[in-house]
Amino acid sequence: MLEYSKIKILLLTAYRTVENFFFEVKGSMAAKNGFIVLEEYLCDEHCDVLINEINQLPTGSVKSFDNDKRIFGSQHLSNVISKYFANRLDLIDFGELMVRRKLRFQTTLAGHISYKEGALGSGGGWHVDSHSVQFKAMIYLTDVSEDNGPFEVIPGSHKPKWFLVFLLRNWFSFTSITRFDNQLVSKYDTKKIMGKRGTVVLFNPLLIHRGLPVTKGERYALTNYYVNNKVPVGTAIDNLDKEQQLS
Ligand SMILES: [Fe+2]
Repeated sequence: MLEYSKIKILLLTAYRTVENFFFEVKGSMAAKNGFIVLEEYLCDEHCDVLINEINQLPTGSVKSFDNDKRIFGSQHLSNVISKYFANRLDLIDFGELMVRRKLRFQTTLAGHISYKEGALGSGGGWHVDSHSVQFKAMIYLTDVSEDNGPFEVIPGSHKPKWFLVFLLRNWFSFTSITRFDNQLVSKYDTKKIMGKRGTVVLFNPLLIHRGLPVTKGERYALTNYYVNNKVPVGTAIDNLDKEQQLS
């Protein structure tokens, strides 16, 4: 009987070791590229429920940037959003592995973007969110193809050394250190992240990124924002819900 218990513990320990190994490998890949994709994080049924929740959120809380409708603090307005996505602890674990800092949750942005001629994509074009420690987890609630606003990044651009070289090489092209025009970014290789609904993209917002402009259809997504745990609660960075920013 004792031997059986020992074998069971041995197998369980081996399983956890392998699981941790893959978790660490995924984390280090993500640390290198600045993003990682988790497929089938939520099922179709849960995506449907979440879209329905977004559609039911009070219209007064919606801030529109052209065709990009945004509701910050959606976790306060919907228990379902809170339960299925905002409060998921595994996401913060991944984030801490990726940015190598303790993080704390800030807010969940519910986003809905649809086609409009000439409009920029989600986030208003190429940008970095800020130059401080942050982390984001975004889930696609609709299937995302090249047409309906996939997330697009310059892989590896979150690294300070990469950004420094970028800054020096393009010194005279900059008008802002957080927003960049298409012509400048077109000199670099980018990666579009398409995926089935339920796909999660975990990323370091220091990456140069954008939502590709929507050419057809629409995209629903939820995005959790996290910041460095050392940033005191209640400082300006926590005012996202009030400021309804574009990033
Ligand atoms: Fe952004």
